[in-house]
Amino acid sequence: MKNCEQGKSELASNRTARLFFAVWPELPLRETLHRWAVQQQKICGGRIMRVESIHLTLLFLGETPQAHLPELMHTVTSVRTARFDLALDLIAGWRHNGIAYAAPAFVPERLPALVMKLRACLAAAGFVFDQRPFTPHVTLLRKVDKTPEARSIEPPIYWSIDEFVLVQSVPEESGIRYEIVRRWSLE
Ligand code: 2AM
Repeated sequence: MKNCEQGKSELASNRTARLFFAVWPELPLRETLHRWAVQQQKICGGRIMRVESIHLTLLFLGETPQAHLPELMHTVTSVRTARFDLALDLIAGWRHNGIAYAAPAFVPERLPALVMKLRACLAAAGFVFDQRPFTPHVTLLRKVDKTPEARSIEPPIYWSIDEFVLVQSVPEESGIRYEIVRRWSLE
Protein backbone atom coordinates (compact mmCIF):
# COMPACT_ATOMS: atom_id res chain seq x y z
CA MET A 1 0.00 0.00 0.00
CA LYS A 2 2.32 2.66 -1.28
CA ASN A 3 0.53 5.85 -0.36
CA CYS A 4 -1.09 4.47 2.78
CA GLU A 5 0.90 2.51 5.39
CA GLN A 6 4.38 3.17 4.08
CA GLY A 7 3.41 6.74 3.28
CA LYS A 8 2.32 7.72 6.77
CA SER A 9 5.70 8.72 8.14
CA GLU A 10 6.54 10.59 4.93
CA LEU A 11 3.17 12.33 5.11
CA ALA A 12 4.00 13.43 8.63
CA SER A 13 7.31 14.84 7.49
CA ASN A 14 5.55 16.61 4.63
CA ARG A 15 7.45 14.92 1.82
CA THR A 16 4.33 14.14 -0.13
CA ALA A 17 2.68 15.55 -3.23
CA ARG A 18 -1.06 15.77 -3.91
CA LEU A 19 -1.34 14.18 -7.34
CA PHE A 20 -3.89 13.36 -10.01
CA PHE A 21 -3.96 12.28 -13.66
CA ALA A 22 -5.90 14.43 -16.09
CA VAL A 23 -6.39 15.51 -19.67
CA TRP A 24 -5.56 19.18 -19.99
CA PRO A 25 -7.10 21.31 -22.76
CA GLU A 26 -5.00 23.76 -24.76
CA LEU A 27 -5.46 27.44 -23.89
CA PRO A 28 -8.12 28.35 -26.55
CA LEU A 29 -10.32 25.50 -25.40
CA ARG A 30 -9.84 26.43 -21.74
CA GLU A 31 -10.79 30.01 -22.63
CA THR A 32 -14.02 28.81 -24.26
CA LEU A 33 -14.83 26.69 -21.19
CA HIS A 34 -14.10 29.69 -19.01
CA ARG A 35 -16.62 31.71 -21.04
CA TRP A 36 -19.18 28.95 -20.45
CA ALA A 37 -18.39 29.25 -16.74
CA VAL A 38 -18.90 33.03 -16.79
CA GLN A 39 -22.30 32.62 -18.50
CA GLN A 40 -23.33 29.82 -16.18
CA GLN A 41 -22.32 31.82 -13.10
CA LYS A 42 -24.99 34.40 -13.99
CA ILE A 43 -27.58 31.65 -13.56
CA CYS A 44 -26.30 29.68 -10.60
CA GLY A 45 -23.64 31.76 -8.82
CA GLY A 46 -20.51 30.08 -7.48
CA ARG A 47 -16.76 30.52 -7.84
CA ILE A 48 -15.35 30.34 -11.37
CA MET A 49 -12.42 28.02 -12.07
CA ARG A 50 -9.43 29.97 -13.34
CA VAL A 51 -8.54 29.53 -17.03
CA GLU A 52 -5.22 27.92 -16.11
CA SER A 53 -6.95 25.36 -13.83
CA ILE A 54 -9.54 23.94 -16.22
CA HIS A 55 -9.10 20.18 -16.82
CA LEU A 56 -10.75 16.78 -16.83
CA THR A 57 -9.55 14.43 -14.08
CA LEU A 58 -8.89 10.82 -15.04
CA LEU A 59 -7.71 9.45 -11.71
CA PHE A 60 -7.26 11.13 -8.33
CA LEU A 61 -4.27 9.73 -6.48
CA GLY A 62 -4.14 12.15 -3.53
CA GLU A 63 -1.23 12.53 -1.13
CA THR A 64 1.65 10.44 -2.46
CA PRO A 65 5.15 10.16 -0.99
CA GLN A 66 7.64 12.02 -3.20
CA ALA A 67 9.86 8.95 -3.01
CA HIS A 68 7.29 7.00 -5.05
CA LEU A 69 7.26 9.43 -7.96
CA PRO A 70 9.94 7.65 -10.07
CA GLU A 71 8.09 4.35 -9.81
CA LEU A 72 4.79 6.07 -10.55
CA MET A 73 6.20 7.65 -13.72
CA HIS A 74 7.80 4.39 -14.80
CA THR A 75 4.62 2.36 -14.24
CA VAL A 76 2.50 4.72 -16.30
CA THR A 77 4.73 4.43 -19.39
CA SER A 78 3.07 1.03 -19.99
CA VAL A 79 -0.34 2.69 -20.61
CA ARG A 80 -1.16 2.58 -24.32
CA THR A 81 -4.33 4.15 -25.76
CA ALA A 82 -5.08 5.62 -29.15
CA ARG A 83 -5.88 9.33 -29.32
CA PHE A 84 -9.54 10.26 -29.52
CA ASP A 85 -11.98 13.16 -29.89
CA LEU A 86 -14.37 14.35 -27.23
CA ALA A 87 -17.34 16.69 -27.70
CA LEU A 88 -18.26 18.69 -24.60
CA ASP A 89 -21.88 19.63 -25.16
CA LEU A 90 -23.58 19.63 -21.76
CA ILE A 91 -23.57 21.79 -18.66
CA ALA A 92 -24.92 20.21 -15.50
CA GLY A 93 -24.33 20.22 -11.77
CA TRP A 94 -24.16 18.14 -8.62
CA ARG A 95 -26.03 19.14 -5.51
CA HIS A 96 -23.85 17.04 -3.14
CA ASN A 97 -20.67 19.02 -3.80
CA GLY A 98 -22.00 22.27 -5.30
CA ILE A 99 -20.19 21.89 -8.61
CA ALA A 100 -21.32 23.02 -12.06
CA TYR A 101 -19.49 21.21 -14.84
CA ALA A 102 -19.19 20.67 -18.58
CA ALA A 103 -19.49 17.09 -19.84
CA PRO A 104 -19.87 15.01 -23.00
CA ALA A 105 -23.36 13.67 -23.77
CA PHE A 106 -21.61 10.81 -25.57
CA VAL A 107 -18.53 9.30 -23.89
CA PRO A 108 -16.14 7.76 -26.44
CA GLU A 109 -15.05 4.29 -25.34
CA ARG A 110 -11.37 5.26 -25.33
CA LEU A 111 -11.86 7.69 -22.43
CA PRO A 112 -13.02 5.17 -19.78
CA ALA A 113 -10.61 2.67 -21.38
CA LEU A 114 -7.73 5.04 -20.64
CA VAL A 115 -8.94 5.40 -17.04
CA MET A 116 -9.24 1.62 -16.64
CA LYS A 117 -5.68 1.14 -17.96
CA LEU A 118 -4.35 3.75 -15.54
CA ARG A 119 -6.20 2.16 -12.65
CA ALA A 120 -4.99 -1.33 -13.56
CA CYS A 121 -1.31 -0.40 -13.88
CA LEU A 122 -1.30 1.71 -10.71
CA ALA A 123 -3.12 -0.97 -8.71
CA ALA A 124 -0.66 -3.60 -9.99
CA ALA A 125 2.20 -1.41 -8.75
CA GLY A 126 0.55 -1.11 -5.32
CA PHE A 127 -0.72 2.47 -5.51
CA VAL A 128 -3.92 3.33 -3.70
CA PHE A 129 -6.44 5.74 -5.23
CA ASP A 130 -10.03 6.88 -5.41
CA GLN A 131 -12.06 3.91 -6.73
CA ARG A 132 -15.36 5.66 -7.29
CA PRO A 133 -16.90 5.21 -10.75
CA PHE A 134 -15.39 7.49 -13.39
CA THR A 135 -17.79 10.32 -14.28
CA PRO A 136 -16.11 12.47 -16.92
CA HIS A 137 -16.59 16.16 -16.17
CA VAL A 138 -14.77 19.48 -16.35
CA THR A 139 -15.49 21.56 -13.26
CA LEU A 140 -16.49 25.11 -14.21
CA LEU A 141 -17.85 26.50 -10.93
CA ARG A 142 -17.56 25.53 -7.29
CA LYS A 143 -19.91 26.36 -4.42
CA VAL A 144 -22.85 27.21 -6.68
CA ASP A 145 -25.92 28.79 -5.06
CA LYS A 146 -28.28 26.80 -7.26
CA THR A 147 -27.57 23.40 -8.86
CA PRO A 148 -27.89 23.82 -12.64
CA GLU A 149 -30.35 21.68 -14.57
CA ALA A 150 -28.55 19.67 -17.25
CA ARG A 151 -28.77 21.45 -20.61
CA SER A 152 -27.17 21.13 -24.04
CA ILE A 153 -24.77 23.79 -25.28
CA GLU A 154 -24.51 24.77 -28.94
CA PRO A 155 -22.05 24.67 -30.52
CA PRO A 156 -20.20 21.96 -28.58
CA ILE A 157 -16.52 22.19 -27.80
CA TYR A 158 -14.56 19.67 -29.89
CA TRP A 159 -11.48 18.44 -28.08
CA SER A 160 -8.78 16.27 -29.71
CA ILE A 161 -7.17 14.37 -26.87
CA ASP A 162 -3.64 13.26 -27.71
CA GLU A 163 -1.96 13.15 -24.29
CA PHE A 164 -2.62 12.78 -20.59
CA VAL A 165 -0.75 14.41 -17.73
CA LEU A 166 0.26 13.92 -14.11
CA VAL A 167 -0.61 17.02 -12.09
CA GLN A 168 0.40 18.24 -8.65
CA SER A 169 -1.92 20.44 -6.57
CA VAL A 170 0.23 23.10 -4.96
CA PRO A 171 -1.43 25.07 -2.16
CA GLU A 172 -0.65 28.79 -2.31
CA GLU A 173 -1.95 31.84 -0.47
CA SER A 174 -4.15 32.75 -3.44
CA GLY A 175 -5.56 29.21 -3.71
CA ILE A 176 -4.56 25.93 -5.32
CA ARG A 177 -2.17 26.03 -8.27
CA TYR A 178 -2.04 23.00 -10.59
CA GLU A 179 1.40 22.12 -11.90
CA ILE A 180 1.86 19.63 -14.73
CA VAL A 181 4.59 17.24 -13.61
CA ARG A 182 4.77 15.00 -16.70
CA ARG A 183 3.02 14.38 -20.03
CA TRP A 184 2.41 11.09 -21.87
CA SER A 185 1.41 11.07 -25.55
CA LEU A 186 -1.42 8.86 -26.74
CA GLU A 187 -0.77 6.76 -29.85
P1 2AM B 1 -13.59 18.00 -9.03
O1 2AM B 1 -13.20 19.10 -9.97
O2 2AM B 1 -14.83 17.28 -9.42
O3 2AM B 1 -13.59 18.46 -7.58
C1 2AM B 1 -7.99 18.03 -8.25
O4 2AM B 1 -8.58 18.13 -7.00
C2 2AM B 1 -8.87 17.29 -9.21
O5 2AM B 1 -9.10 15.97 -8.73
C3 2AM B 1 -10.25 17.91 -9.42
O6 2AM B 1 -10.56 17.80 -10.80
C4 2AM B 1 -11.17 17.05 -8.61
O7 2AM B 1 -12.44 16.89 -9.16
C5 2AM B 1 -10.48 15.70 -8.72
N1 2AM B 1 -10.81 14.78 -7.63
C6 2AM B 1 -11.34 13.55 -7.77
N2 2AM B 1 -11.48 12.95 -6.59
C7 2AM B 1 -11.04 13.82 -5.66
C8 2AM B 1 -10.94 13.75 -4.25
N3 2AM B 1 -11.30 12.67 -3.55
N4 2AM B 1 -10.45 14.85 -3.61
C9 2AM B 1 -10.07 15.95 -4.31
N5 2AM B 1 -10.13 16.05 -5.66
C10 2AM B 1 -10.60 14.99 -6.33
